[in-house]
Amino acid sequence: MESQTVKWKHYFLYLAFIYAILYFLHTNLLLNNRPIRIKKWPHLPLRFRHDGTFKILQVADMHFGSGLLSRCRDVLPSHFHYCSDLNTTRFLKTMIQLEKPDFVAFTGDNIFGPSTTDAAESLLRAFGPVMESGIPWAAVLGNHDQESSMTREELMSFISLMDYSLSQTNPPSKDINNVKRGMFLDIDGFGNYNLSVYGAPGSHLANSSVLNLFFLDSGDRETVQGVRTYGWIKESQLNWLRSASQELQVA
Ligand SMILES: *[C@@H]1O[C@H](CO)[C@@H](O)[C@H](O)[C@H]1NC(C)=O
Ligand SMILES: *[C@@H]1O[C@H](CO)[C@@H](O)[C@H](O)[C@H]1NC(C)=O
Ligand SMILES: *[C@@H]1O[C@H](CO)[C@@H](O)[C@H](O)[C@H]1NC(C)=O
Repeated sequence: MESQTVKWKHYFLYLAFIYAILYFLHTNLLLNNRPIRIKKWPHLPLRFRHDGTFKILQVADMHFGSGLLSRCRDVLPSHFHYCSDLNTTRFLKTMIQLEKPDFVAFTGDNIFGPSTTDAAESLLRAFGPVMESGIPWAAVLGNHDQESSMTREELMSFISLMDYSLSQTNPPSKDINNVKRGMFLDIDGFGNYNLSVYGAPGSHLANSSVLNLFFLDSGDRETVQGVRTYGWIKESQLNWLRSASQELQVA
C-alpha cells in the first residue's frame, strides 16, 4: 500500500515536470508570449471615388537603410548631420496626410541593401507610414533592394505579407494542376502582377474593373558580353502582360 502511494506521487511529480517544460517552451521560446499576428487587408476591391477620381501616390527610391544611422546623400554639407532615413519617413507620412491618396505605389529601391544588415527590418520601417495609414499599397523592386540579407523572391514574398499590401510575388499559374500546388506562372523576375480598380460605388460601373494597374519587375543588374549593366523587362513578362490585358479587355 505504502509503495503504491509513493508510485502515484512520483507519477504526479513526473507529469507536473513535463507540463512545466511544455509550458516554458510554449510561452518563452515558441510564441515569445506574443499573440500571432494576421495580415491586415484593405477594403477591396480598389474603387474610384464618387467624384470619379482615383489618386495614386507614387514613391520611388526611398533607399531606406538603418534609420537614424543612415545619413542622407546629396544634401548640403550643413544638412548632413541632421538628415537621415527618419527624414524620409517624416516626408512620406506628411505626403500621405496631405494628399490622402487612394493607393500608394512604391516603384523600387525601397531599401538600400548596402546600408542595412537586416532587409526585413528595413522594409518594415520603410513601409511603416503606409502600413499605419491603412491605405492599400503595392511595391516592386529596384536593383538595390536585394543587396543585403534577402533575395528578390524573399523580398517580394515578405512585402506581399505586410499589412494593407496588395503586392504579389508573381501571377498565379493558370494550369489547374499547378494552381492546386500554389505554383506561379513561369515568368522572369519577382513582382509581376496586376491590380484592378473598379468603378465608383453606386455607378453603372460599380461591378466592372475600369482601370488595370500592371507591375513589372525591371530586374537586377546583369552582365551582357562582359559589360556590367542593368536588367530589363523580358519577353516572358511581356507575353504575360499582353495576355492579361487582353483577358481584362474581354471581361
Ligand atoms: C531632417 O530632420 C531634422 C529633424 O527634424 C531637421 O532638423 C532637418 O532639417 C531635416 N533635414 C533635411 C535635409 O530636411
Ligand atoms: C453590382 O452588384 C450588386 C451586388 O451583386 C448589385 O446589387 C448591383 O445592382 C450591381 N450594380 C450594377 C451597376 O451592376
Ligand atoms: C489580373 O488580371 C487577370 C486577367 O488576366 C484577372 O483575372 C485578375 O482578376 C486580375 N487580378 C487582380 C488582382 O485584379
